[in-house]
Amino acid sequence: MSSTAHSTNHDTISPAIFYWGTPSSSSATENEDSTFNIAPMSSAFWLGNRCMLGLGGISQTTINLLRTKQCVLNLPSDDMSDAVNALARTTGSKEILTAQPGEGYKYFKRMNGYEYVPDKFGRAGLTPIQSDIVRPARIAECPAQMEAELVGVYEMARDADTKGFFTLEVRVVRTHVHREIRMEGSKNRIDPDKWRPMIMSFQELKWVADSDIPTLAGQMTRDAHRKFNDTRRVPLEPVIRRIMEMIHQMRRQIRDSHLNEIRLRLRAHRGELSRYANPSIVVSLHRAIFAVSASASSWFGGGAAKKRPFCSTLFSSAENPRSRAG
Ligand SMILES: Cc1cc2nc3c(=O)[nH]c(=O)nc-3n(C[C@H](O)[C@H](O)[C@H](O)COP(=O)(O)O)c2cc1C
Repeated sequence: MSSTAHSTNHDTISPAIFYWGTPSSSSATENEDSTFNIAPMSSAFWLGNRCMLGLGGISQTTINLLRTKQCVLNLPSDDMSDAVNALARTTGSKEILTAQPGEGYKYFKRMNGYEYVPDKFGRAGLTPIQSDIVRPARIAECPAQMEAELVGVYEMARDADTKGFFTLEVRVVRTHVHREIRMEGSKNRIDPDKWRPMIMSFQELKWVADSDIPTLAGQMTRDAHRKFNDTRRVPLEPVIRRIMEMIHQMRRQIRDSHLNEIRLRLRAHRGELSRYANPSIVVSLHRAIFAVSASASSWFGGGAAKKRPFCSTLFSSAENPRSRAG
């Protein structure tokens, strides 16, 4: 049995909310009268080209999204708190004006000072611009805008009395970004040093502090994530070449933990590597990692005897330069 240590610096608490910090977004949807509604939200996470949105069932955003199956997810930057705050405690749903006790969240909103605002673009001083694929408008001022279509609806908290919350799965069908946040020399990348998302942390709007933490392992697989995306497949060879460049550039500052991360990710993707990449490039990548790892003693766990198992799990023996060498 594994042994565990006793914590000396953790307290047990019971938080009313679990907003640990996610980017704030403004979802735009189309009302029944063909005007547009926008509403701030932050319960969202992303996987591949999908986004899961956590939304209350009575909000106009949810009603519109379920009816039209379309939305635009607009991500404000950290200097847009005035616009986000102008929309806080507003709703595009007229029904809160007359909500009665017993009408749950609708009545809660009425009693907590929510205001019915039919023109939220106007209220927040934001500019609607036309989308390419979906009908709802994009918010011009937001540096990132994703046109999306609804593909799934899941009712949350089915095990509890608190009804009326849903997770809506949307598929991103087009992404627009301000030129200023793009990574120089790259067609499809965002520069994390230029993109400053507004983060909602425990009901306060925050921004990401400047820092320079190397994230080699994360960056190298960014393009490889496209395999989860229905809309496009990217050949692996440019990705592998980029990994090799990065390994070369960072060889002096590379840490054992980075190498381990690369090893784990390569191993996880070795099926695709052998299917989509030219074996000679894969061998070159292997050599590049091996050259760097020669100076990182714990890369293969130390002794030479431990090197072979990793080599042979990642590449077939024919492609493995060490195997060929002997
Ligand atoms: C920063 C911020 C984040 C929010 N996040 C969410 C959220 O993730 N899900 C949700 O249902 N409501 C969220 N809200 C509350 C909605 O904006 C609110 O219910 C609003 O009335 C919805 O507007 P609508 O009825 O026009 O759609 C958030 C509000 C703010 C200010």
